[in-house]
Amino acid sequence: MSQIQNEVIATVAERSNLGDYDQACAQFSWEEVKKHFTWNETGKVNMAYEAIDRHVEEGRGAKTALLYSDAHRDEEYSFLDLSEGSNRFGNVLRKYGISKGDRVFIFMPRSPELYLSLLGILKVGGIAGPLFEAFMETAVKDRLEDSGAVALVTTPELLPRIKRDELPLLKHIFVVGGGAQQEEGLVDYDAEIAAASDSLEPEWLTPEDGMLIHYTSGSTGRPKGVYHVHNAMLQHYYTGKVVLDLREDDVYWCTADPGWVTGTSYGIFAPWLNGVTNVIRGGRFSPQDWYQTIVKNKVTVWYSAPTAFRMLMGAGEDVIEQYDLSTLRHVLSVGEPLNPEVVRWGTKAYKQRIHDTWWMTETGGQLICNYPGMNIKPGSMGKPVPGIEAAIINDQGDVLPPYSMGNLAIKTPWPSMMRKIWNNDAKYEEYFRIPGWYISGDSAYMDEEGYFWFQGRIDDVINSSGERIGPFEVESKLLEHEAVAEAGVIGKPDLVRGEIIKAFVALREGYEPSQELKDDIYRFVKEGLSAHAAPREIEFKEKLPKTRSGKIMRRVLKAWELDLPTGDLSTIED
Ligand code: WTA
Repeated sequence: MSQIQNEVIATVAERSNLGDYDQACAQFSWEEVKKHFTWNETGKVNMAYEAIDRHVEEGRGAKTALLYSDAHRDEEYSFLDLSEGSNRFGNVLRKYGISKGDRVFIFMPRSPELYLSLLGILKVGGIAGPLFEAFMETAVKDRLEDSGAVALVTTPELLPRIKRDELPLLKHIFVVGGGAQQEEGLVDYDAEIAAASDSLEPEWLTPEDGMLIHYTSGSTGRPKGVYHVHNAMLQHYYTGKVVLDLREDDVYWCTADPGWVTGTSYGIFAPWLNGVTNVIRGGRFSPQDWYQTIVKNKVTVWYSAPTAFRMLMGAGEDVIEQYDLSTLRHVLSVGEPLNPEVVRWGTKAYKQRIHDTWWMTETGGQLICNYPGMNIKPGSMGKPVPGIEAAIINDQGDVLPPYSMGNLAIKTPWPSMMRKIWNNDAKYEEYFRIPGWYISGDSAYMDEEGYFWFQGRIDDVINSSGERIGPFEVESKLLEHEAVAEAGVIGKPDLVRGEIIKAFVALREGYEPSQELKDDIYRFVKEGLSAHAAPREIEFKEKLPKTRSGKIMRRVLKAWELDLPTGDLSTIED
């Protein structure tokens, strides 16, 4: 590691005052970060090589890379194990003709095979697309169709949710843990892995070659395929050092699923690029189970989300007292506003300050953060990572003075920035409509010390338990229900989940409002799309407010819900 980089890291990670932060910003250069990577000299780029194989080549192969557990399994993998295991899957993919640029999706619960598959895909130059196991038929189909995926890794349990007859491009389905498969197009993953060689020459790429597509929601249209490239490793490695504060002997646990960007950038890449032992816990959330995971693995650095912290807070301190959480050194949060109350509670309950971090699927990596040692202002997302310039700007692109509310914007470019929206250039360009800036869609203000304070979304995107939900996708599903004539969906504030989904529904002729109908509509969305997209609250209305062009006015629905003035209604239908 270079001299300057060491200094930057020391400055940001170990000191606390503003002077040092400014100095770190002034000294910073991405060119220095690049020097950590062998491809800087060899030109041979591959994320999976840098995250896994390189540790083997440099003599760290025996070190524990993965501590995996769920209700049924408890397994440990070294860097060598991950290297060989992902080589095997890479060889299987090559055998089936999969190569550079091909989209290969993964639709399965967390398991060691999920991680080995993802690394294997990257090794052959494929573009990986991880999907939440909670997705139902329509959600899975939309994503596989839009991305043009040629292969999928899944489990026998999830197989029925894949509409194969409607996905002509999807040629191979690798079934994990399913025994012998007889049907055409289905491949027995385990048998293939057992027969494959564990050595493989990775596909050497350029930093700008595709690596990952994460689907995420906006306020209009279907989910967007956010496309990331191998160059993102600069950001993952560097923020792993200065924000996660990862050190050689750390045992790190990020609670996120790889179906969400946090589960890849910070559940896979940042820890392994930094050569750190990574804990993965499968299964559902329970306070006891989570605390036990910390105790059992002696977790030192823990990255989770506000909804989880609020649920842990709800479980109370009696529960905490039964566990020895004293190994924790650094605790972080992402995904939704972190309430000051939760920060204060964490300080008392865990004797740890919870460090908020702000970023998005589109940004690929952390951008505005609270660093170890920094003076935390509860309620603030922190300050830009050195190397990143953030500002509050108005719609004309003018930078606004402290305490003005406006668009939270980031100076372009940075290494992990998305490089496109798959199949949708127009959507991509919307983010960069003001020259020189990425417009996040969040509103915020900055205080006089340069701390950023989140205020809300500018569009109608809903954030429930940290998951981004596009109202359009839910409304479209609602309209497929036989009783629904019109539907409008909003986020309703909720103490634990941040927001829940509330649907306003106008019924078709011949249908009467009833609790049974509400339950049926709820189930319909849950089973067609996913549980997290299903409206926990449904309100029947005679009619929904629409513009003259027929667009449901969600802001009016929101105003109804919150008892606020409805604002300008000049475009309303009648
Ligand atoms: C919200 C990927 C407040 C925000 C990590 C953003 C946050 C959206 C924070 C991105 C935070 C994320 N404080 N709000 N620290 N972090 N958000 O792409 O609205 O699923 O635009 O997250 O989550 O959601 P995404």
